Amino acid sequence: MFKNVGIIGLGTYVPENVMTNFDFEKIIDTSDEWIRTRTGIEERRFASADQATSDLGAEAAKIALEKAGLSAEDIDMIILATTTPDYPIQSTACVVQELIGAVNAGAVDVNAACSGFVYALTMAKALIASGMNKKVLVIGAEVLSKCVDMQDRNTCVLFGDGAAAAVVAEVEEGYGILSQFLGAEPDVKGALRTPAGGTRKPLSQEVLDERSNFLQMKGQDVFKFAVKALPKATLEALNGAGLKAENIDMVFPHQANVRIIEAASKRLEIPMEKFYLNLNKFGNTSSASIGLALGEALEKGLVKKGDTVVLTGFGAGLTYASMIIRWSY
Ligand code: ACO
Repeated sequence: MFKNVGIIGLGTYVPENVMTNFDFEKIIDTSDEWIRTRTGIEERRFASADQATSDLGAEAAKIALEKAGLSAEDIDMIILATTTPDYPIQSTACVVQELIGAVNAGAVDVNAACSGFVYALTMAKALIASGMNKKVLVIGAEVLSKCVDMQDRNTCVLFGDGAAAAVVAEVEEGYGILSQFLGAEPDVKGALRTPAGGTRKPLSQEVLDERSNFLQMKGQDVFKFAVKALPKATLEALNGAGLKAENIDMVFPHQANVRIIEAASKRLEIPMEKFYLNLNKFGNTSSASIGLALGEALEKGLVKKGDTVVLTGFGAGLTYASMIIRWSY
């Protein structure tokens, strides 16, 4: 018999260092006005020189465990979604395991870029529903500031660093994750990719000179993909749960660009008031962004037991994903 699975504790962490649009005006040819009107972003957080993705993830994880009333030893699996790992080899999940002392847990990374949090939650659900695991720690953590080109105004102003963590476990019947949809389609145009530094084109002096070890993006292609992907993934998940758009209390979209979210709101006929936004403060934190938004809404008391919420994202891959949760606490 499959179990009902849901989030029983959620924690978030962002680095202290605030980087405003005005700070960018001092280092590249851009303006607060351009960034704000094109994206909705006003500022973002940047990790310090000695902070890696695992450090952010571990801080969020400790808060999530505290909220769930559990200790790190209670966790039997860590699934960490990131596109900016600490190291090319050794998963960031394993580093977090060590940092928090989750000695009884398996640990693995998932890379689905900005859809990563929903992908990882889905895997956690499957492991628990099937009886393989009992308490899974899902983390979305990113230090994008060290992976984007600070000379490339097309990308560097968009991203920020942060982490969100969720403890996933069995919940009472009728609550928890009602449905999910995971999708991917070929990125035929290479719209969103770090072209070098991996096995296709390993790091070399040439790579460093051409700066192709940093993220490159064809913004308009990603935009076109996103405005279709978010509504499609959400509708698929709604169908899976046997629900309609009007049944949704709140939507937690990937926080990339307010114009993408407005387009999704129109297509889905879900009013903008139901979309939780905090990208003005944190920018695009990739796999952390949906959890960061959800965590903030929970802190404000905006999500209550019995509420039906949607988590929905899109990102490099190209991936897209949505999940419907009936909140259980
Ligand atoms: N400041 C000033 N001007 C800029 C900047 C900047 N930071 N960046 C680009 N411009 C310029 C361009 O050079 C271009 O100038 P030109 O007309 O002289 O050539 C002009 O602004 C317009 O550029 P566009 O790309 O047409 O601007 P657009 O309105 O499409 O907005 C944006 C760009 C914000 C990137 C938008 O396309 C977008 O949000 N796309 C989706 C991005 C996204 O969601 N990415 C998610 C990645 S998630 C992941 O998986 C990592």
